[in-house]
Amino acid sequence: MNSKETNLMDKLVSLCKRRGIIFQSSGIYGGINSCWDYGPVGVELKNNIKRFWWQSMVYQHENIEGLDASIIMHPRVWEASGHVESFTDPLVDCKSCKRRFRADEVPNNRCPECGGELTEARQFNLMFKTHIGPVEEETSVIYLRPETAQGIYVNFQNVLKCSRQKIPFGIAQIGKAFRNEITPGNFIFRMREFEQMEMQFFVKPGTDEEWFETWKQKRMEWYIQLGICPQKLRFHQHGPDELAHYAKTAFDIQYEFPFGWKELEGIHNRTDFDLRRHSEFSGKDLSYFDDETRERYIPYVVETSAGVDRTLLTCLVDAYDEEEIKGEIRVVLRLAPQIAPVKAGIFPLVKRDGMPEMAQKIAHNLGQHFNVFYDESGAIGRRYRRQDEIGTPFGITVDSQSLQDQTVTVRERDSMLQERISIDRVGEYLKDKLTKGN
Ligand code: GAP
Repeated sequence: MNSKETNLMDKLVSLCKRRGIIFQSSGIYGGINSCWDYGPVGVELKNNIKRFWWQSMVYQHENIEGLDASIIMHPRVWEASGHVESFTDPLVDCKSCKRRFRADEVPNNRCPECGGELTEARQFNLMFKTHIGPVEEETSVIYLRPETAQGIYVNFQNVLKCSRQKIPFGIAQIGKAFRNEITPGNFIFRMREFEQMEMQFFVKPGTDEEWFETWKQKRMEWYIQLGICPQKLRFHQHGPDELAHYAKTAFDIQYEFPFGWKELEGIHNRTDFDLRRHSEFSGKDLSYFDDETRERYIPYVVETSAGVDRTLLTCLVDAYDEEEIKGEIRVVLRLAPQIAPVKAGIFPLVKRDGMPEMAQKIAHNLGQHFNVFYDESGAIGRRYRRQDEIGTPFGITVDSQSLQDQTVTVRERDSMLQERISIDRVGEYLKDKLTKGN
């Protein structure tokens, strides 16, 4: 990272803390490495991103069903999935300072911290282990899920039966996943507790490559609809040494972060690996019978696996902008209106003459449908700037003319242009702009 880019990440981390987007977890105890909390503004942004994904995957596809499976699953799931055996990173320990590193990140075999000698590489499983029930014994060992996908595979037959879907069809899920990452970092880019938005699409073997291509394109399109700059997005195909143990083909969607091109989402052709293994390990038949062709087969799976937190970081990095206006720096998050945490700031120009009452009434009415923020303190310019910083697309101001003709000014965040509209049209105006973009 050059200094301008380091600067951008530093500015973003500080903005996130100051404005209630993201806080360090357990901050009053000095924090805990790679765990983060979302504040009042951040939780809105995160929920909006999740809703946007759910709408475009579940509501806009008649052949995709939703699911919310348990984080704690039967321990045999992780044997069947291959995670107990293969979900590992090669690690080395420093014999002097005892620090631990990923073997591929220390090519010179000398500790990057103290120059000490390193041990041979050992495989380290990334799953968090804990115990279920009151007795800490081997039989009660369980894992926190490292991916949400397995909750979908073990429910494949349940969803198939209750939804009466036919192949091809998909199951989508949003939920927490946990990985004991060795080198977490870059703010919320790599965390130990994070959230995934995954969709497993079950297809007839032989049609998998075509479906893979379809989902690859659709998922790239999704980031563009989210407002991400297309020039900063690209595909990266996994070479044989990068492929996960379950994948036949894999493409990442990458974004150009200040710290380089990095994975945002993985699209994987998982073949029949997972359903076949779960059939073997559980003894339950997970095949599908096609009643038109009278064929029975184990479906192939095309998976789209996105990180909620990484998408949120992408939105922040992509949206962050500074511009100089009359010698002052305006910080603005140019977020797409549909994911903006607050949709409109409502302001009385001054705190008298009935303006606060009128503005509060507008805020109350709009608040039935949108997340709006009422603010009467400080100069109006400062109030606009505070909303610009968290990406609020509209500022609605009640002034002396409002008292006479029942109109308000609406200021648009990016252009800062203002127009006057009648108060009874404000709701429609916002709805229109927020659904169509602007
Ligand atoms: N089910 C397939 C799977 O989990 P993955 O490529 O390991 O595939 C998918 O993860 C996505 O989950 C990644 O593209 C990333 O967005 C997110 N992700 C994975 N590990 C993460 C971590 N430690 N912190 C934040 N997000 C992570």
